[in-house]
Amino acid sequence: MFCMEASKVKKLVMILGVIVIVAVSTGIYFFNRNNTVVTETARGEIAVNETNSAVWGKLYPAHWDSYQANLSNSAKPSHFETKPYLQVMYEGTGFAKEYNEPRGHLYTIEDVTSINPARQKAGASCFTCKSTQVPQMMDKYRAQYYLMSFDEMKGQITEPIGCLDCHDPKTMALTITRPALKEALQRQGRDLNKITNQEMRSLVCAQCHVTYYFAPETKKVTFPWDKGFTARQILAYFDEEKFTEWVHPTAGSNLVKARHAEYETFMGSTHQTAGVACADCHMPYTMVGNKKISSHVWQSPLNNIEQSCTTCHRNGTEWLKTRVETIQTQVKQSQDLAGEAVVQAINELKIARETPNVDQAKLAEAMNLHREAQWYLDYVAVTNGYGFHNPTATLNDLNTAIDKAYKAVEKSREARGAKTSFN
Ligand code: HEC
Ligand code: HEC
Ligand code: HEC
Ligand code: HEC
Repeated sequence: MFCMEASKVKKLVMILGVIVIVAVSTGIYFFNRNNTVVTETARGEIAVNETNSAVWGKLYPAHWDSYQANLSNSAKPSHFETKPYLQVMYEGTGFAKEYNEPRGHLYTIEDVTSINPARQKAGASCFTCKSTQVPQMMDKYRAQYYLMSFDEMKGQITEPIGCLDCHDPKTMALTITRPALKEALQRQGRDLNKITNQEMRSLVCAQCHVTYYFAPETKKVTFPWDKGFTARQILAYFDEEKFTEWVHPTAGSNLVKARHAEYETFMGSTHQTAGVACADCHMPYTMVGNKKISSHVWQSPLNNIEQSCTTCHRNGTEWLKTRVETIQTQVKQSQDLAGEAVVQAINELKIARETPNVDQAKLAEAMNLHREAQWYLDYVAVTNGYGFHNPTATLNDLNTAIDKAYKAVEKSREARGAKTSFN
């Protein structure tokens, strides 16, 4: 059998050859199918100021379809349904009038223009995180932008969040378009030219998903990050600046308002310190035909755990979903306890203020404790994700809120000479 005819050997070699070629090419096909690294570069010319995302969509149809799918994320229940204490805490601000959970990026114009007018008093600044046209309005009006009224800006802005908010139209590279973020990073000593792409995958979100305040006088949108990103460091910054956003009409305390601090909360978390970015969970790769693109549907990652989490975690979707729910349930329980405590502090302050000959120094101390308690609770309550982004820091902030609130209760009672749990 070792002396096969030459023609048979030739035939065998040919058959083997065909088998090898088919096997290798099938292998390459399937390997590529699952590993098409997205290196989509600019496909054509987009004008530097192109705010109409549909124009970008003509060159990137798969991304356009993905972006349009944000329209199906349309529910916006009121925060007060699940957190009634917020309405008591926000007395004296527009937030007490109407405050809804966020929804898809394409609804921003509809939502900002239809909200209770008390919320629009902050003026043109309300649009800062709602429209891709804003950087151009800032260029046009300069410092005046922040001082203009809501109605003056309203007629000029029609586009929601769009491609130009995160992409350089020439190269498609990620880019920061909001000055407040650039300035805050520079004040922290960061060199903006030395930011990695992985960091940009979070920083594009940090243009808007952050807490901020309007600087007194100029009304400029400013990120209070000079001392760091934690709730404690941000409050220390406000205290040093002697900044007060409003005075609570019932409690009399000088308060500061937290806003959706997703980025700040995420900083220092297990995921962030492991090098994970917002886009890893919120913009995972998805297959469109046989092409991979970054999903442009900004939504709850629980809607697509297979893409958002199991690329890194092998524990299975049920385990992951349960972990998220457990964290969020525990956070919600502590948050409700903090809400109860802060409302009690407000009620006690009211009584103390109405008491003749109340000890003014002690009353001032109680009001400051209320300021602290409300800040820590607000920082958690308005931050999306119910603590998932950083469970330990979140629970720690809520502990602080509960502690400060009950100290405010005690101090208020002491100020009016009433019985406290210590005497
Ligand atoms: C909120 C920010 C944001 C907006 C708005 C946005 N993108 Fe992206 N886009 C990203 C991020 C983040 C990536 C991932 C880039 C990376 O990892 O380098 C990305 C990637 C891309 C890519 C590269 C290929 C890929 O899928 O990873 C293209 C092309 C793209 N986006 C097109 C668009 C178009 C077109 C629009 C508007 C319809 C748009 N993007 C809107 C953040 C955004
Ligand atoms: C230009 C400002 C801006 C940028 C940039 C931005 N967002 Fe948003 N985002 C918003 C606003 C405003 C809303 C709420 C829209 C509404 O309710 O009308 C929102 C809503 C969302 C939602 C929906 C929340 C819900 O409850 O359904 C998610 C998720 C989200 N953003 C994630 C991201 C991620 C991740 C990035 C970065 C890749 C990002 N966003 C970049 C402003 C922005
Ligand atoms: C490790 C994955 C992961 C990372 C990284 C991450 N998130 Fe989330 N995010 C989640 C999960 C899980 C939820 C909770 C979703 C839910 O409750 O349905 C969430 C909720 C949200 C929501 C509210 C969405 C909703 O439907 O309620 C927003 C907005 C958001 N994240 C923004 C961000 C931003 C901005 C960053 C980066 C600074 C970020 N996330 C980083 C996993 C992540
Ligand atoms: C890019 C990789 C990556 C992605 C995507 C990712 N994780 Fe993680 N996750 C990690 C790493 C790394 C750790 C640190 C512990 C470890 O090494 O397992 C971690 C830790 C965790 C922990 C335990 C730590 C804690 O903070 O409680 C949970 C729970 C978790 N991830 C859930 C999720 C969920 C849910 C998603 C999707 C929404 C997700 N992760 C997406 C990489 C990732």
